[in-house]
Amino acid sequence: SKTCAIIPAAGRGLRMGRNKPKQFLEVSGKSLLSHTLDIFSKASFLSEIFLVVPQDFISEARELIQGFSDSIRDGSRFSVVVGGAERQDSVYNGLCRLPSDCDWVMVHDGVRPFASLKLLEKTWKAAQISGAAVAALSATDTVKRVLDAVVRETLPREEIWLVQTPQVFRKEILLRAYEEARKYGWVGTDDASFVERLQIPVSVVHGERSNIKVTTPEDLDWAAWYLGRNPE
Ligand code: C5P
Repeated sequence: SKTCAIIPAAGRGLRMGRNKPKQFLEVSGKSLLSHTLDIFSKASFLSEIFLVVPQDFISEARELIQGFSDSIRDGSRFSVVVGGAERQDSVYNGLCRLPSDCDWVMVHDGVRPFASLKLLEKTWKAAQISGAAVAALSATDTVKRVLDAVVRETLPREEIWLVQTPQVFRKEILLRAYEEARKYGWVGTDDASFVERLQIPVSVVHGERSNIKVTTPEDLDWAAWYLGRNPE
């Protein structure tokens, strides 16, 4: 059976406060997105990879994927897709492009350049058993629900997990979840949340501390430090 990947990278990265979306900013001589694509180009269990970017970055993205044509047998393993207003619109655009013979789909944020190949494989394997799997970290901080700068509740920490990508699903499940989301106007910041609403169990595998979502300027500094310490 075939697995395809969708890499949503069509955000504007406003929290970064830079002139370019963060996924196109360079760290250690390469864009964050290009670091992410590096890992995906090494994942032999993925047959096709769909990179979702903003309309005005299509040509930049095409150039980027051309850099990977050496490392793959067939230069067409990567494709570029235009994103939408929200992450969920971008992922949906990717889903609509998946070939019909693709049975599994892995979604991974373009701005998580430090996921290991091992994590991709582990999440993929867990999904093969249960139909849906996400990488996540168990909370080490105490977690509280806060409203208007006042604590409302302390949550039971042993039950709290911080969810990352990759997230892997049987394609038919994720597509149905996204179609319901569009029909009923569900809003979500990850893919699994829509699958959960279909009452389908989602398994959790241990993620990685280094698999950060590069979001703020401090994250960029951390990324540069991390790459200096873990040269490719
Ligand atoms: O919004 P957030 O920072 O959580 O973004 C997670 C990922 O989703 C990023 O890689 C971002 O580029 C992507 N995204 C997207 N389309 C949007 C918004 C975000 O592909 N409209």
